[in-house]
Amino acid sequence: MTDAAPSGPTGDVTDRATTGFLHRYGEQPAGRWAAPGRVNLIGEHTDYNDGFVLPFVLPLRTVVAAAPQDGPRWTVWSELADSPVEFGVDEVAGPGRVTGWGAYVAGVIWALRDAGHDVPGARLAIASDVPIGSGLSSSAALEAAVLAALVDLGGLDLPAERRPRLAQRAENAYVGSPTGIMDQSAVIRCRPGQALFLDCRTEAVEHIPFDLAAAGLAVLVIDSRATHRHSDGEYAARRASCEQAAELLGVPALRDVPVAGLDEALGRLDQALGRPDDETRRRVRHVVTENQRVLDTVELLRAGRIRDIGPLLTASHASMRDDFEITVPEIDIAVEAALAAGAYGARMTGGGFGGCVLALIDADRADAVAAAVTAAYPKHTYPPPNFHQTT
Ligand code: GLA
Repeated sequence: MTDAAPSGPTGDVTDRATTGFLHRYGEQPAGRWAAPGRVNLIGEHTDYNDGFVLPFVLPLRTVVAAAPQDGPRWTVWSELADSPVEFGVDEVAGPGRVTGWGAYVAGVIWALRDAGHDVPGARLAIASDVPIGSGLSSSAALEAAVLAALVDLGGLDLPAERRPRLAQRAENAYVGSPTGIMDQSAVIRCRPGQALFLDCRTEAVEHIPFDLAAAGLAVLVIDSRATHRHSDGEYAARRASCEQAAELLGVPALRDVPVAGLDEALGRLDQALGRPDDETRRRVRHVVTENQRVLDTVELLRAGRIRDIGPLLTASHASMRDDFEITVPEIDIAVEAALAAGAYGARMTGGGFGGCVLALIDADRADAVAAAVTAAYPKHTYPPPNFHQTT
């Protein structure tokens, strides 16, 4: 196992973007812009509830090599696609006019133009080590790298702290996924060796020390290879159910229910619905307790007690499995096997219904834990998982 090994095309990702640009367009790019994949340490489905999240970035990147071209025209080549996509002002005039992977690029251009920016025409070449569909935010990495390229090429006035909302708007309104602000914030605002404590209501950030190597620890990222089954509809359903609960409780968002007020809030929910609704109660309980787990994790990390966050990670997983109901069998198997092999804590990370598990382990245990997880996967039922180790 190598650190955060790419599973797609090989060779340095920046070189691939550069040579891709050269071959495709017959000239050198004006520059290269990159954004990383992310893992969320804890705080799942809290972002669109105005709550707290704690992501950190992986040493896996999406790189965009780009140069200006005349007129409002954009040509986009990707190493993962058979042919480039091209679009002009008509395609970026309104949501949904470009579909597939090109929509993330068109969406960024649309959102920039909609915000009044004079977006330069450009040629782009994209290469990426962030696996697609694994819950490591390949889409946010693509949006952020394209955004950085266009902002620099056009000399646009858009400081880093204002970019996540714009990239999120591209994804929500143009691509049509109702995601929160976490992924774009993580890939734009995280710093290496630190986790990003983000208040999703105010967008205030604090960079929290997360020096795994110094503590002799590592995070093993286990790609379950279950690729987000039914994720779009289920994600939207979870979001709708949280928003409805907040409305019934008369609060702007579930973030406004403190863990100490949970029982009282659940009682009020029953009253408002005229009956106990077990499913809605469990959805609310997940969000409220998950926000508290983020705060508790931050406290421990501030005190340098990385190992001690393990039980919070595992409790987060149980809450996603039992209360929010967003895990799948491959994911639960990976979590249990990692814990049985000595992980301090383990949980699914990301939107759910597949994607990745993270396990906090002693750095020298990565191979043993990976082997235990692979052995626990029922053969012939699921493809074997992939692993990325990060310190
Ligand atoms: C996906 C979304 C995020 C967030 C997570 C769940 O990654 O893009 O906005 O809601 O799911 O925490």
